[in-house]
Amino acid sequence: MLQTAIEATHRAGKVIAERFSAQRNVTVKGYRDIVTDVDIAAESIIIDLIGERFPDHAILSEEAGGAAIGAGLTWVIDPLDGTTNYAHRIPFSCTSVGVLEDGEPLAGAIYDPLRDQTFAAERGKGATLNGERIHASPASPLSHTLLALDWGHSNAVRVQALALLLHVAPRCGTVRALGSAALALAYVATGWLDGYLNLALKPWDIAAGMLLIAEAGGRCTTLRGEPCRADIPACLATNGLVHDELLAVIADSA
Ligand code: IPD
Ligand code: CA
Ligand code: CA
Repeated sequence: MLQTAIEATHRAGKVIAERFSAQRNVTVKGYRDIVTDVDIAAESIIIDLIGERFPDHAILSEEAGGAAIGAGLTWVIDPLDGTTNYAHRIPFSCTSVGVLEDGEPLAGAIYDPLRDQTFAAERGKGATLNGERIHASPASPLSHTLLALDWGHSNAVRVQALALLLHVAPRCGTVRALGSAALALAYVATGWLDGYLNLALKPWDIAAGMLLIAEAGGRCTTLRGEPCRADIPACLATNGLVHDELLAVIADSA
């Protein structure tokens, strides 16, 4: 399944990279939410491959929809994470494919086609970047960290994120807003970011990334410190070392 997840992200990534500079069609699908023809093309490549290899498995994919996360094996797909970046030709987006078993991450791959970087993990077997083991960063305390967050679409979520940022920004090294949740999670697993915060994730944003972080020795929880789940929108992901400090700052800001 991990090999298929990787292969699916590579096949999708080929189209994403080839069409990066080309004309594309952008459709507004929701409030501050867009989709391009490349998202759809990438998605059908992934779904076709998984359907061919694992016809009995459930699939939940951002644009096509599909099964709710339940018992058994579910493939959770974000064909293009960072669509707004992609539509603006900012080269920071990826494809994410995760496999959940009874709702728990089993395998996952995140592929950045513009840098040819493949982040992959299998439960209990560690996390890798292009085949080499990766580990969350050694950065600590919070004042020495590089964090990232993303805004979400609704104003209610943005106001909540700003309220948190008011407390977090003065206490950390600095903060970025990168525009691809899945790729930011992969960067936490690789140790390039020390932490990541998002209040409005969807299962396809996090299904693969949460496993990468766990397998790289990081920590991924809700804002109250409960273990994160693919169906919980708010997520704090860190290298583990600054997690409790960040949770305390978040609790103080509530
Ligand atoms: C979005 C990105 C963004 C996050 C949004 C997501 P999409 O995914 O991950 O960073 O803030 O909440 O919806 O729409 O580009 O796949
Ligand atoms: Ca996404
Ligand atoms: Ca997407």
